[in-house]
Amino acid sequence: MILETKRLILRELQESDFKAVHAYGADPEVVVYMPFGPNTKDDTKEYLKRVLNQQKEQPRIVYTLALVRREDNKLIGSCSILVRSESNKEAEMGYILNRSYWNHGYITEAAKRLLRFGFEQLGLHRIYATCDPANVASFKVMEKIGMKREGLLRQHKLQKGKWRDSFLYSILEQEMTFTEQKN
Ligand SMILES: CC(C)(COP(=O)(O)OP(=O)(O)OC[C@H]1O[C@@H](n2cnc3c(N)ncnc32)[C@H](O)[C@@H]1OP(=O)(O)O)[C@@H](O)C(=O)NCCC(=O)NCCS
Repeated sequence: MILETKRLILRELQESDFKAVHAYGADPEVVVYMPFGPNTKDDTKEYLKRVLNQQKEQPRIVYTLALVRREDNKLIGSCSILVRSESNKEAEMGYILNRSYWNHGYITEAAKRLLRFGFEQLGLHRIYATCDPANVASFKVMEKIGMKREGLLRQHKLQKGKWRDSFLYSILEQEMTFTEQKN
């Protein structure tokens, strides 16, 4: 499975992506707001094994795609869409990027494509994302791709031994056309 954008190829992760995936998973600054990490090599191996297994699931629930730059074929991050409810046609989206590539619009570009995949190919109705309210870069991405803030989930996650709140954002199927036109 391959999705394309102007600067990126979104493709399935492979075992041979270990080094590039470990580079961001092991970076303490990248994983500050993530439930995992900083990863050991074994953590990253486990993660990749899980992702490869998810690729084979039928029906497929999780799509975790590598973000590869067209210009130099470098794997710079990943993004995912996870079907949370088949009956409600609802999924959750997530993303992570190697720190060397932050603030160049890569995730905004990838996430927009992933939303389109979710609505057009997976037939979803609602796609949501959550983040730590302190993770400004993350919720800015959500806003730039047309998601709307629905509220604050109090003590939503027990992360690294502490309860943390989350912002909840979402976009609905019928709002996607508007987003595409706007950008
Ligand atoms: C969140 C993340 C994926 C964003 O990726 P990115 O490719 O840098 O995102 P974009 O460049 O598309 O957009 C980021 C926006 O946030 C803004 N931003 C970044 N840090 C900011 C800060 N501290 N304060 C205010 N704005 C900030 C950028 O300026 C940009 O907005 P702009 O286009 O209006 O200038 C990346 O920072 C990352 O990997 N973080 C660590 C992992 C993570 O937290 N993932 C999300 C978990 S919910």
